[in-house]
Amino acid sequence: MGSEELTPSEESRSHFKQLIAIGLVASVLGVALGLLIDWFPTQGSEQAETVDTLWDVLIIASVPVFVLVITVVLYCVWRYRMKPGEELKDGPPIHGNTRLEIVWTAIPAILLVALCSYSYVALTDIEEAKADSLEVRVVGQQFTWTFYYKGADGKEVGSAQLYVPRGRPVYFTIQSKDVIHDFWVPAFRMKIDAVPGIDTHLRITPKTPGEYPVICAELCGLGHAAMRQTAHVVEQDEFDRWLRERSAAAEGGGAAPEEQGGGGAAPDAKAVFEDAGCGGCHTLADAGTTGGTGPDLDKGLKGKDEAFIRESIVDPSAEITPGYSDGIMPPNFGDTLQPAELDALVKYLAKVTK
Ligand code: CUA
Repeated sequence: MGSEELTPSEESRSHFKQLIAIGLVASVLGVALGLLIDWFPTQGSEQAETVDTLWDVLIIASVPVFVLVITVVLYCVWRYRMKPGEELKDGPPIHGNTRLEIVWTAIPAILLVALCSYSYVALTDIEEAKADSLEVRVVGQQFTWTFYYKGADGKEVGSAQLYVPRGRPVYFTIQSKDVIHDFWVPAFRMKIDAVPGIDTHLRITPKTPGEYPVICAELCGLGHAAMRQTAHVVEQDEFDRWLRERSAAAEGGGAAPEEQGGGGAAPDAKAVFEDAGCGGCHTLADAGTTGGTGPDLDKGLKGKDEAFIRESIVDPSAEITPGYSDGIMPPNFGDTLQPAELDALVKYLAKVTK
């Protein structure tokens, strides 16, 4: 009497209680950690909220399941390990447990159906067609994106930069000129393949003004890692002004006269170099870039005149630097850069590589 000896069933019940306690604590810690970690970039679109909430719900649902499985596995490995002298011992003959099997089939099934239904509702919500959408055609090619807008006169205007107005729904049509690319703006939380011969679509409503990376998320060749540009979420009036300027530039006249506030200052050439993504492929000491996919500009452009530099940008196939392949550099910078931007870029490169 007064002994602390437990019968086998009492002992296993106390182990079970310990197991539940460990599982509960680990689940609460895991869920808290999962919700505290800042997994994603700024919510650049309204769709981002729905996606992030879906993520949080999946964390809350899946962490306890993960913890349950791991706790039971680790506990069993420890509790039922083979001790010295037990080498020939066999376990108890078990022929199944109907109640347990029904429970462990039904609970995961209910969980899965619930999560699938919720995901479906979230997907329908973020893909919902909205009236008065701005249409942007996105064309991928090795190794750049070009964004086409409908200008004031109905003509298409191309740009190497993605501009979208805050609060206005945008309907993207995504195309590819060569291989499969993938149009991804992490801040918008939306992503879709650009497939040659097929139009794919995405909808977002820009929410937070700012600049966000546009990334190609499909391995598409040598310059894949450099296929990065910038998405600008701006206010509607700034967007209108930008589109007017681009339309005017596309007409060949540079910025329209009434837009040339501040004396029509020339574009910042280093910013053009950065925005067009040149540094992704080219090394240029002055801009601090170290890309190796294309020729080193400090060496390759040394002593070259402006005419050569201009030709290398607008018609990269005209002369190929030994050791590099034709077709790596996008051939459309003559279209996507404004004439003033191209002029500034040529002058800048001639100056810094002298
Ligand atoms: Cu285009 Cu990767």
